Amino acid sequence: MHNPYLPEDWTIMAMREEIEDHFFLELRPPAGSRVWEYTPGQFCGVSILGIGEAPISLSSSPTRPETLQMCIRKAGRLTSAVSKLSVGDVLGLRGPLGKGYPLEQIQGRDVLILAGGLGMVPLRSLMTYVLDNPERFGRLTVLYGTRTDLEFLFYDELTRLGKSGRAEVELITQEVRPGGRYRPENGDRKGFVTDLLAGGFCRSPGETFVAMCGPPVFYRYAVKTLLEKGFSKALIFMSLERRMECGLGKCGHCSVGYRYTCVEGPIFNYWDAYNTPELIEIREGQPWINS
Ligand SMILES: Cc1cc2nc3c(=O)[nH]c(=O)nc-3n(C[C@H](O)[C@H](O)[C@H](O)COP(=O)(O)OP(=O)(O)OC[C@H]3O[C@@H](n4cnc5c(N)ncnc54)[C@H](O)[C@@H]3O)c2cc1C
Ligand code: FES
Repeated sequence: MHNPYLPEDWTIMAMREEIEDHFFLELRPPAGSRVWEYTPGQFCGVSILGIGEAPISLSSSPTRPETLQMCIRKAGRLTSAVSKLSVGDVLGLRGPLGKGYPLEQIQGRDVLILAGGLGMVPLRSLMTYVLDNPERFGRLTVLYGTRTDLEFLFYDELTRLGKSGRAEVELITQEVRPGGRYRPENGDRKGFVTDLLAGGFCRSPGETFVAMCGPPVFYRYAVKTLLEKGFSKALIFMSLERRMECGLGKCGHCSVGYRYTCVEGPIFNYWDAYNTPELIEIREGQPWINS
């Protein structure tokens, strides 16, 4: 029987430095292993024996089950060790963990993907899932903002998608740097991701499902703008990450109030976030969301 605490050895089939210190990996399962059935938004435990384990989002889609893809930022002990690996090496993987997006609720709706920085990693899973099931969903819009244009992840893939007409894709960056990916000829813009929302990209905001992921400051302004533009609180979902260990609701490391975010999250809806303010930073004692 499958033991959810025990990592399996997956082999790195492809690896590249997507942007500085952010490593894209594609892995194949050990021979004869079960196929992972997961939902976009779920994550896994990535480990190296003797070094440690970290929760990492699945960036691939369950519609393409042969491999798993992820993008890992070099941040500390485990992720630095991962950055030194190469094709053919193995990584321990445990999962799938957590709760993903409510696909039944999204069915038949337009989908808005709203990403800030590294938030594009888990959202790419949902994006690919929607693209692979066009008959189940309405129009797809992807709005992606970064602090500088050196930080655009999956730039070529997103630009190609926008040009293909299968989705409306808009990239925006606050700052253009030498050697960055900003290309005005591709339609890239300068500014904040909320500027794109103000541009009115969605035809029927009140009916559109919104999946968002980014740093805390991104949520604060993006949620405010979404509500001003008439998006429905019931259809706003966000990915909120906390420190995690077991990922299985046993150790309590991820608890926020009465919630174990590893099993109840990392995907939460607006009302979960609103009723659990510790999930997102509150500044100067002010609630971060307009009620
Ligand atoms: C559900 C989930 C999904 C994630 N997906 C990804 C992903 O797709 N790609 C990716 O690169 N990272 C992701 N992370 C973050 C990643 O798990 C952490 O950066 C992890 O700590 C790296 O492990 P490490 O041993 O390399 O670093 P560590 O040695 O643990 O230290 C890294 C640094 O980050 C700090 N830190 C650790 N965890 C957190 C946290 N949750 N919040 C704030 N600060 C923290 C530490 O204090 C330290 O400064 C995810 C986290 C969660 C909870
Ligand atoms: S990480 Fe152990 S209970 Fe959530």
